[in-house]
Amino acid sequence: MLRARITGTGSSLPDKILTNADLEHMVDTSDEWITSRTGIKQRRIASEGEFTSTFAIEASRRALAMAGISADELDLIIMGTVTPDFPFPSAACIIQREIGAKNAVAFDLSAACSGFIYGLSIADSFIKGGQKKKALVIGAEVLSRIVDWSDRNTCILFGDGAGAVVLEANDGENGILSTHIYSNGSFWDTLYQAGCGSRNPASSEQTIEQRLFFIKMEGNDVFKHAVRALEEAAFAALNANSMSASDISLFIPHQANRRIIDATAKRLGLPDNKVFVNVHNYGNTSAASIPIALDEASRSGLLKKDDILLFDAFGGGFTYGSAMVRW
Ligand code: ACO
Repeated sequence: MLRARITGTGSSLPDKILTNADLEHMVDTSDEWITSRTGIKQRRIASEGEFTSTFAIEASRRALAMAGISADELDLIIMGTVTPDFPFPSAACIIQREIGAKNAVAFDLSAACSGFIYGLSIADSFIKGGQKKKALVIGAEVLSRIVDWSDRNTCILFGDGAGAVVLEANDGENGILSTHIYSNGSFWDTLYQAGCGSRNPASSEQTIEQRLFFIKMEGNDVFKHAVRALEEAAFAALNANSMSASDISLFIPHQANRRIIDATAKRLGLPDNKVFVNVHNYGNTSAASIPIALDEASRSGLLKKDDILLFDAFGGGFTYGSAMVRW
């Protein structure tokens, strides 16, 4: 059976580190509060002259090098992001030019923190259907540019970075076993950026006066929906593959908040040693979080051939989804 197999992973993060201690000097917060409510200790922040594509390009090059293929072999590039370099053209087209993927169709996908899982699902369909053979799926964000650094409710949560995977058509048992993606637009205004689109243009007085260019979030609502949706998507993957939690080698959830990860793992009945966590180092990097985590797991030697991996994401929209992979 034709499957999409992950043959390369890559990630790239800004050098600049912003710790909880640094945030104590910026807003009325404490390391103790941030750590106990989120598990986050530090996050990476892009410097002047660094953009979303800066990290996406580096992550893509690393993924291609691991896969051992050249960029012109790619026939598909999907970039999950809500912080592209420009409203248009897509960041995917910028990446295409920089890496020299002249034979690929390239586009961005807006699904907030679920952007990577949505991208994986679309690439998987193209590859399983035989339309594409080699795809690059990227999740990358520079959220620090849309975070209100005077709002302690949100600024402690987010970080910048990128992760990427190369997918190749593979005849056999290894690769993506299934993907499951969902949307619930009823709650779009629970987590969003009100300005800089057609409703409140970046240049309008309202956008500037009301500071609509920043992320707005109802944290408590997001938290409750996130845990329920992550559980639903994870069970969809288990059921579709007639598996139970004990079959999972490693659970790689979206890294939003340690408490969300722990609550989801508990509902699935997964022990700590099967749950990958790096949110303490990077905060919530939205679409980038799962591919960054996967790259860390893969390069640290944590993954063995035939391991069963479960990815699980939730984000603004609401969007959510999962993917089951035989490594
Ligand atoms: N430092 C100190 N105090 C703070 C801070 C802060 N950084 N932020 C809020 N507080 C205060 C609040 O003002 C409030 O004070 P009050 O009781 O005097 O009004 C108190 O702490 C409790 O606030 P809550 O919002 O109820 O705190 P909660 O325990 O819900 O934690 C948090 C807030 C961490 C945002 C939590 O709701 C959360 O993680 N939600 C999920 C949000 C998320 O992950 N979003 C990312 C995008 S979606 C995704 O990726 C899944």
